Amino acid sequence: MTDFFNLGFNLGDRVAVVVGASSGLGADAARAYAAAGADVALLARRVDRLEALGEEIESAGGRAVVVRCDVTDEGSCRTAVSAVLDACERIDILLNNAGVAVRGGVETLNDEEWDRSFDTNVKGIVHVSKYVVPHMKERSYGKIVNIASVNAVIADKQDVFVRHAYNASKAAVLGLTRGMACSYARYGITVNAVGPGLFASEMTESTLFKSDEFLDAYGALDPTGRPGRRGELNGTILYLSSDASSYVQGQFVVVDGGMTIV
Ligand SMILES: NC(=O)c1ccc[n+]([C@@H]2O[C@H](COP(=O)([O-])OP(=O)(O)OC[C@H]3O[C@@H](n4cnc5c(N)ncnc54)[C@H](OP(=O)(O)O)[C@@H]3O)[C@@H](O)[C@H]2O)c1
Repeated sequence: MTDFFNLGFNLGDRVAVVVGASSGLGADAARAYAAAGADVALLARRVDRLEALGEEIESAGGRAVVVRCDVTDEGSCRTAVSAVLDACERIDILLNNAGVAVRGGVETLNDEEWDRSFDTNVKGIVHVSKYVVPHMKERSYGKIVNIASVNAVIADKQDVFVRHAYNASKAAVLGLTRGMACSYARYGITVNAVGPGLFASEMTESTLFKSDEFLDAYGALDPTGRPGRRGELNGTILYLSSDASSYVQGQFVVVDGGMTIV
């Protein structure tokens, strides 16, 4: 078979850094990278969670490295990236997944809440990428996947689910993704964003999943009629992290059962 038909899905010799790997979608993405054969570096603040996940991955035959990282703190990100490079020697894939969803709108959110939203969801990507990109440029190779949200392009109508800082910060992730993609494409680095719809996680289980009103409205809106199931985001993340997406640049790939097409 010629190379044209080798779609490049193999992650067998890759090192993937998962930022925000201590719970939810990030932890499951780390499991998926490991199942696809990649070595994974697990980053977040809750090291006990990362260690438990690392043990799970290693006992399944994978390789995992645990590194504490607070994405709101540039120094912490610099130290964390350096620790990953010491342990793994290179970084092929960066999944910028850390995020917070603060509830409230312009009339209720205070500056601390706006800052926390942007410091985590936007500057968090900047802080980690700042130290990973030079390494990727040097190697002329890199796959960066930024987790945005459908809430970058749509908002919630029901008052109790209003999250203006989340909407604004996730929209900023799309602009940042396009800017980074334009600057780094010539270095063999792809930068793309993923927009999950609704998935169960710590972020959503105590709020959105608790509300029949929200779930009914969501079910009525989403052509698939249900939230995303565990694992249904991973195919897109792995695709954008593999050479199968070598010509996909600066895109926003939505995984929402079709909710945003209605
Ligand atoms: N679940 C959904 O329906 C949904 C939909 C659209 C988009 N998303 C996005 O998907 C991503 C993952 O969210 P999730 O749903 O899986 O929620 P989650 O379970 O609450 O996970 C959030 C992750 O972000 C990490 N994090 C938060 N602040 C951090 C910081 N300052 N430094 C380092 N890590 C930090 C958390 O780790 P520590 O607390 O241990 O630091 C945790 O691992 C987020 O970007 C979210 O906006 C989720």
